[in-house]
Amino acid sequence: MTLKTLKIEAEKAIIGAQDLKGLNDVYKKYLGKEGELTRILRSLEKLPKAKRVKVGKETNNLKNVLTIKFDQRTQVLKEKAQQEAEEKEWIDVSAPGKRPVLGHLHPLTQVRRKIEEIFQTMGFAVVEGPEMETEWYHFDALNIPKNHPARDLWDTFYLRNGLLLRAQTSPVQIRYMEKNNPPLRIIAPGRCFRHEATDASHEHTFHQIEGLVVGRDISLANLKVVLESFMKRFFGEGVILRWQPSYFPFVEPGLELLMRCSVCQGKGCSTCGNSGWLEVIPCGMVHPNVFKAAGYNPKFWQGFAFGMGLDRLAMMKYKINDIRLFCSGDLRFLNQF
Ligand code: PHE
Repeated sequence: MTLKTLKIEAEKAIIGAQDLKGLNDVYKKYLGKEGELTRILRSLEKLPKAKRVKVGKETNNLKNVLTIKFDQRTQVLKEKAQQEAEEKEWIDVSAPGKRPVLGHLHPLTQVRRKIEEIFQTMGFAVVEGPEMETEWYHFDALNIPKNHPARDLWDTFYLRNGLLLRAQTSPVQIRYMEKNNPPLRIIAPGRCFRHEATDASHEHTFHQIEGLVVGRDISLANLKVVLESFMKRFFGEGVILRWQPSYFPFVEPGLELLMRCSVCQGKGCSTCGNSGWLEVIPCGMVHPNVFKAAGYNPKFWQGFAFGMGLDRLAMMKYKINDIRLFCSGDLRFLNQF
């Protein structure tokens, strides 16, 4: 190959290189240590003197020319690379922003707060108790002695440390009375657990709100007016209520407040077991044995207690047909609230 064709070929290759890497390959091929020009320069010694000087000069000239062309092309390709990188990183600061997804309170939290608010306006304090309980607070102190069949109603999970997971919030009654003197008005919301085969209306983990009022002359009339007022404020003035007697070892007498089924308007459906009514708030007058266990004199004090299922109330308010939805983590459900 003559120096002339080499020049043409090399110049073409330099201009043809589209990026710095490609150009680097071209450099190696013609100007590098193993490149064409170096090879020619090395082979000069084999030539006769006169020819050696001539070819050497021409080759060095070509080397200089190509080096300049190479440097120019390098500059162009560097700028091109930088421009491309800038284009890739370009941000349109005037484009509309992406709205961050905002979370919201879980429906059960919303309902709990609403219930707390209603009771707070009636002078109730909101207190809490532990989810792990002793048998004493959970059963004995609530007038449910060992081996009493009523313990079956609160079948729960017994832990290896001798404690159990509370199946109701009623033990908070005892814990609060032990530490506080009457008169008192409290509600105690919290998580409860039961050894339960789950279905649309039963969960192993659910929530209750306990209530307790103690004073010198608290009567059944007070219980009725407090719970009826609560129901009207929670479900609306139009809610239709009914009372019926019931049994719980820690109250005497025991009652149950029922509301007409909001799903079928009392005609009877699967939600209300075809009775047209739903049991909403179990309650009653505090049993003297409960006062005794907490260290109160039952001859002196009287009061009422109630315990409502938070999940159930939320289901009735929003016509939710499956309790398991609450803790399913399904956003299609949760985002409706
Ligand atoms: N703790 C009872 C239950 O879980 C409900 C209740 C509370 C009944 C207070 C009467 C008084 O079934």
